[in-house]
Formats: sequence, C-alpha cells, structure tokens
Amino acid sequence: MEVFRRKNDLKAFLADKKNIGFVPTMGALHEGHLSLIKRCASENEICVVSVFVNPTQFNDKNDLKNYPRTEEADLALLRANGCDAAFLPSVEEMYPEEDTRVFDFGEIGNVMEGPRRPGHFNGVSQVVSRLFDIVAPQKAYFGEKDFQQIAIIRSMVKQLNYDIEIVSCPIVREQSGLAKSSRNTLLTDGEKEKAVLISKTLFESVNFAKSKSVADVKQWVVDTINAEPILDVEYFEIVDGYTLQSIENWSDADYVVGCITVYCGVRPVRLIDNITYKKQE
Ligand code: PAF
Repeated sequence: MEVFRRKNDLKAFLADKKNIGFVPTMGALHEGHLSLIKRCASENEICVVSVFVNPTQFNDKNDLKNYPRTEEADLALLRANGCDAAFLPSVEEMYPEEDTRVFDFGEIGNVMEGPRRPGHFNGVSQVVSRLFDIVAPQKAYFGEKDFQQIAIIRSMVKQLNYDIEIVSCPIVREQSGLAKSSRNTLLTDGEKEKAVLISKTLFESVNFAKSKSVADVKQWVVDTINAEPILDVEYFEIVDGYTLQSIENWSDADYVVGCITVYCGVRPVRLIDNITYKKQE
C-alpha cells in the first residue's frame, strides 16, 4: 500500500490506472468502513481510501475537536484490507483557499439532518467533490447508515456532471444490533449497552408496522426509546426513500425508510440509524 499526503503525488500514481474505486472516510475506521473497503478492493483494479476529518462539514466546533483521530491504527487496517493507495491530506492541502461554493439540494436537503446541521451537507459535498477531482474514480462507496448523505452525494454528482457510480453498502452492526460508528468509541460501556435500544426498537417496529399506521409507529418508536433516561430522540421520520419526504400512509411510497437520530449519555453522543420498511425493486 502506498501512502500519500499530497494530492499531486496521488494524481501521478493514479495517472495510468484504468479502474479506480474510492472510499472517502474521516478515519477512526471500523467494520463498517472495512466492508466498503473490501468491496471496493474486490470490484476495482485499484482501491483508494482517503482519511480526512473535514472541517467544513462540522457545524459544531466541539464535535470537530472531539472527533476520534487514530491514524496509525487506520493505516494498519487499510494495509490489511486491500487498500492500494491511502490519501491522508492536511487541511491546507485540501483547502489551499476557502471553498465558497454553495450547493442547493432542494427538498432532500431541507429535511432531517439538513436544518439540524446547517452547512453540514454543503461541507460534505465540498470535500467529496474535491476528492473526486483528485482521485477521478469510476466507482465510489458509501455506507447506508448515513442514508441522507448518499442522496445528497447522488445529487451533487448529478449537478457537477461526474461520471461516477455511487455504490451504497448496507449498514454493518455490532452483534448487539448497534450500528457501527466511529462515534461509538465516545460511548462508555454502560452507554453502549443502553444505545442498543435504538436498533432493537427499529427492528421491532418493522413487525409493528404490519398492523399500525405510520403515525402510530412513529410515536411508538420515539416513546420506547425516550423511556430510557439516557437516550433522547432528536427526530424519527418515516420517509420516501427516494425523495426523503415524510409519508403519511404506508402506500404513499414504494421505498419506505425510518431515519432516526438519538442523543446518548451525558456528553452527549449523537447517534444515527435507519431501517427499511419496504423496498419494491
Ligand atoms: O461519511 C463520512 O465519513 C464523511 O461525511 C465523508 C463522506 C468521508 C466526507 O467527509
């Protein structure tokens, strides 16, 4: 595996490569990332992984400061899981000048994470488009845990006319059901145990959905999770999986997903997860 910190060095390495797959990450790698990296390595001649904690997507400076950074462990995991080129740029390397671009994602940007994390998706799109320009991959891999992020990336790819296939990969969970996340390392063991209630409730709600209305399922999920004192649901929306707009009836969409964000513990740690109720191919 080659390690690059300069974009021009990475570009020179990739110049004669034909079939490039790319996994952008912010490091603190876990099984969720590794599933993307393994898939990318198996489907492409060259697998490129970036590790960059992107300041422009953090609307909360404390969140940026506390974000886990584990470079040595990340490099070891990348070496062991099929990465051919690791890209670890500095902030100055990625943003020699301020990125002032403002994206408009329309209705998919105005719901759920959009209004609650102002500027977040704009920052994600700024960095991912910069990384796409450097790596020029044919395929890029993203995890479905960040469900709205994938829709935003697809919109950005369309707006900027990239010829890149966005591959979405299933959520990887701990044995307990908790969705794997770099933020899980910020939870105490006790908090982690309680956080399992989030996925447990989402799984149970699939059964509940067979006989109850959308409104009833929403209420039940929120009440069940909030009954645990250290958990606090920020939102739970049941949406059309393509437009991300809330639905009122199960028949309103062919693809129905429940998206949740929960604060856990005293710090608190913001956890996200989602569940598919219906998908007609
Ligand atoms: O999902 C993430 O880890 C980040 O948002 C991404 C896509 C690497 C951009 O910084």
